[in-house]
Amino acid sequence: MRIGVFTSGGDAPGMNACVRAVVRSAVSKGHEVIGICRGYQGLLEEDFFRQADGEPLMRLRSVSHILQLGGTVLGTSRSELFRTKEGVKRAADVLRKHRIDALIPIGGDGTFRGAVELARHWDGRIVGCPGTIDNDLLGTDYTIGFATAVHTAVEAVDKLRDTAESHERLFLVEVMGRHSGFIALWTALAGGAEVVALPETHTDVPATVEHLKTLKSRGKKSIMVVVAEGDELGGAAILDDELRRAGCPFDTRVVLLGHLQRGGTPVPDDRILATRLGDFAVRSLDRGVGGMMAGVVRGELVLTPFEETYARHKAVPESLLDVLQTMAS
Ligand code: F6P
Repeated sequence: MRIGVFTSGGDAPGMNACVRAVVRSAVSKGHEVIGICRGYQGLLEEDFFRQADGEPLMRLRSVSHILQLGGTVLGTSRSELFRTKEGVKRAADVLRKHRIDALIPIGGDGTFRGAVELARHWDGRIVGCPGTIDNDLLGTDYTIGFATAVHTAVEAVDKLRDTAESHERLFLVEVMGRHSGFIALWTALAGGAEVVALPETHTDVPATVEHLKTLKSRGKKSIMVVVAEGDELGGAAILDDELRRAGCPFDTRVVLLGHLQRGGTPVPDDRILATRLGDFAVRSLDRGVGGMMAGVVRGELVLTPFEETYARHKAVPESLLDVLQTMAS
């Protein structure tokens, strides 16, 4: 079988570990692997990975020492052309031209929506791996890159706590998550934040200010507020304004972590998850599977139809919100 592998959408730490796993697993089973550069855009442009000697197939050694690298050695993109019907048809033609039998896309919901469209015009099989820091896909407990993004954000919160404590300040730390509060909630819990603002929940500003006044009266010197970029108010800067106007008793500062959370060397959990899923995707293709995402649910490897991975919002666990509130009371 000739398998094409690519990374698409926002890069996520651990994507390289997944590419490595796909190549090693596929080559060891006697398959050929074509590395497609820059996601769907690279596929449309026939931009394929090449060895130094010009050979287009990836070898076992093509993926040496990439396990620990952040970003993606194959590059990535958000392709506007591929969103069009003409683009999808052209991509299918490219796959036929290069006699590719199966694809392993590594990405998030946009990548899998694209895979579903592609499958309407191409009869090869597609098994995807969830690569996104957002952890917003159903069919897996965690996505590749989430653990590293949280680790990075928690490191930042820990550092900010030092200066917040010294100056008796409140920091609003904005983390990624346009539609999903997973990074914010996990960062808040691990960073001991007093307040979290998520896209999934209502932020009651007057009640929050009252809570902050109580904490101040009890001698609390520093406050960390973790805000998802897509919280209902529209991010940390707006929430900061609202808190001030409502009489926030602390001097405040805003820090946007932004794309810092996407880079960096993947933590071991992401490397292991990526390795298991890349290998499982190849083994699934071997068994004749198609149209599915590989995931891990409660420790077990599972397959979920692409459409189900993004059909509904993946809810943040309410029990963890309760724990956070208890810790911050
Ligand atoms: O989906 C991953 C993600 O990092 C989101 O958390 C964030 O909202 C978005 O990508 C940012 O996208 P871009 O890199 O295109 O600005």
